[in-house]
Amino acid sequence: MDSQAIEDMLAIAVAAGAQGRLDDAEAAFRAVLVMKPDHDEALFGLGLNLLIARRFQEAVEPLTWAVHAPNAEPVRRQCLAHALFLTGDFARAADTFATANGVEPLPEGARVTWARAAAYNALEGGDAQAALDLYAMIAGPLAEDLETVAREGFGILVAFDSLDAARTLGAWLAAHNPADLIRAHELRVLTDPRFDRAPPAYVEALFDDLAQRFDRQLVEMLDYRAPELLANLVAGRYARFARILDLGCGTGLAAPFLGGFGAQLTGVDLSSAMLAKAAERGGYDHLVQAEAVTFLQSQPSAFDLIFAADVLIYFGDLAPLLTAAAEALAHGGVLAFSVERGEAGWRLLPTARYAHGDDYVRQVAAPGFRIADHEDIVLRREATGVTQGRLYLLEKL
Ligand SMILES: C[S@@+](CC[C@H](N)C(=O)[O-])C[C@H]1O[C@@H](n2cnc3c(N)ncnc32)[C@H](O)[C@@H]1O
Repeated sequence: MDSQAIEDMLAIAVAAGAQGRLDDAEAAFRAVLVMKPDHDEALFGLGLNLLIARRFQEAVEPLTWAVHAPNAEPVRRQCLAHALFLTGDFARAADTFATANGVEPLPEGARVTWARAAAYNALEGGDAQAALDLYAMIAGPLAEDLETVAREGFGILVAFDSLDAARTLGAWLAAHNPADLIRAHELRVLTDPRFDRAPPAYVEALFDDLAQRFDRQLVEMLDYRAPELLANLVAGRYARFARILDLGCGTGLAAPFLGGFGAQLTGVDLSSAMLAKAAERGGYDHLVQAEAVTFLQSQPSAFDLIFAADVLIYFGDLAPLLTAAAEALAHGGVLAFSVERGEAGWRLLPTARYAHGDDYVRQVAAPGFRIADHEDIVLRREATGVTQGRLYLLEKL
């Protein structure tokens, strides 16, 4: 084995990582590991690289090996614990943080994550208050407000499909803040999931709460591009429209893409806070606070394109919306929308969103529309993996 070649390759990997060239760094770390499979610096470097690239599951194995090297620095164990937390393995994450803390006291951020991991894991025992007390004990003076911990924990547990633990935490939240419409609905979805659409009061509260963080959370963190991709699909077939409705326009992410069609643009949304953001962004001739189906029913033949990016995820049964959209479109009008891709029919997910199967979309669209085009896309890149979506272009019959 040529130890100089190993050192050279390691230097290339470290330099590429430092410059943010994650693919190059990964390739170089892997090249080192081909030459020397137990090279612990390369194992740690690869694990860290994968962690930065948000490939948490893949990061766990190299980090696990890197930790076992003699004289491994304590930071390696902290990275492993974070990777385990980010894969939803809260039991191992809590153990790993505890061991790391035994070697060297954890920095503040790691201590809070340890406290959360321990609490989420303890929820499996069914006692939310005991789990939150454990959180407070581990976090000590760094402890955040328990309701915030519980609220964020609920979402994380649902995302990782730890539904019993989520129900336990949801019940604690409902008892502590009975007026919280958002959590009340999300808990009901887990306990009695018989809703054919998200209640408007829930949607309004959810997006009023989310409006300030929406663009950063969706676009920067989840790589959300549905408005652009849907507009591209439309532009592949049509050049201009006279009147466009951006249904569930949110903060107006679609406006810059829809501007290219030269139309008068109307945005409709239930959430006044999202509409305020859309007004700030600009590009709309009219912004209206209204429920989507009710608004469509009040606008016969008023639009040439109805555009709905990431909105039908709040509807299970699509028939009322598609019927109303057909009425609101002028002759030859186009309906463009995205769905979260499901197996068959429609299904309410534990996230309180809906997924739709292609069979269902085709069947429910058939009376009023012809499917002109469709395309599969990545809808969001969440910590737990990629959410698959599908775009549809429907022409009114
Ligand atoms: C995930 S956001 C997408 C926003 C925007 N279309 C985009 O792609 O950035 C969903 C939006 O649909 C709105 N919405 C959901 N259900 C609605 C309904 N029944 N009527 C009106 N707006 C609704 C929400 O308020 C929210 O702003």
